[in-house]
Amino acid sequence: MRTKIVAGNWKMNKLPSDAAALIGEIRAATNDGDCGVEVVVCVPYTAITAAAAALEGSKIGLGAQNMHWKDSGAYTGEISAGMLKDLGVKYVILGHSERRQYFAETDETVNLKLKAALAAGLTPIVCVGETLEERETGKMEEVIIRQVSEDLAGCQADFSKIVIAYEPVWAIGTGKTATSTQAQEVHALIRATLAKMNPEQADLVRIQYGGSMKPENAADLMAKPDIDGGLIGGAALVADSFAAIVAAGK
Ligand code: PGA
Repeated sequence: MRTKIVAGNWKMNKLPSDAAALIGEIRAATNDGDCGVEVVVCVPYTAITAAAAALEGSKIGLGAQNMHWKDSGAYTGEISAGMLKDLGVKYVILGHSERRQYFAETDETVNLKLKAALAAGLTPIVCVGETLEERETGKMEEVIIRQVSEDLAGCQADFSKIVIAYEPVWAIGTGKTATSTQAQEVHALIRATLAKMNPEQADLVRIQYGGSMKPENAADLMAKPDIDGGLIGGAALVADSFAAIVAAGK
């Protein structure tokens, strides 16, 4: 049995002072993350220190939203896995579609970041997903298989430590959710792709759904056999909505 994992992706929202307040509300609303579901909040870099302090003694895990693959060096503006770990970060989102779309992230850099995150002992949340155009022109399968194979290449021995988030780009922040049937179909494809790479560990990988997940659709999505949780954007900024999604994963 895979433990469900629900992670909030706060994106570029919340000042450090706001983060502490929101985390206080999330702690109260989720029984402090002690609820049979792994609960994670992925905050902006600038809020990490405040979030770590606000999470002291909590079962809720702290995550970041990106990192560089090098340990240190002349990479102005970048943050390494070691820097995140030193602040108490345990999870990191990699290859989010917004990073692929606006910051030229590629399968190759996601793969480098994944290897660095695993080497540092961080739990990576690797995002994959097709655009609307790719879905409408029949390229969804090809895109998903390419992203999973290239992003996770060479990491087969560590599959059990990796979380994947399937986030159809057309569903992110649009209010359009994939139906649970559509999502399950892609999750099964992801698992089949993983099984070709490492048959022993494919069943251990948790695959989250992301893209307009909210309290109203979370239970239906997470009831599907290959949907092991959610990566939540907008609804993660409201403690009660986030907690309701967590509860739907029980
Ligand atoms: P959304 O974002 O829930 O606001 O659609 C999800 C994500 O981008 O991770």
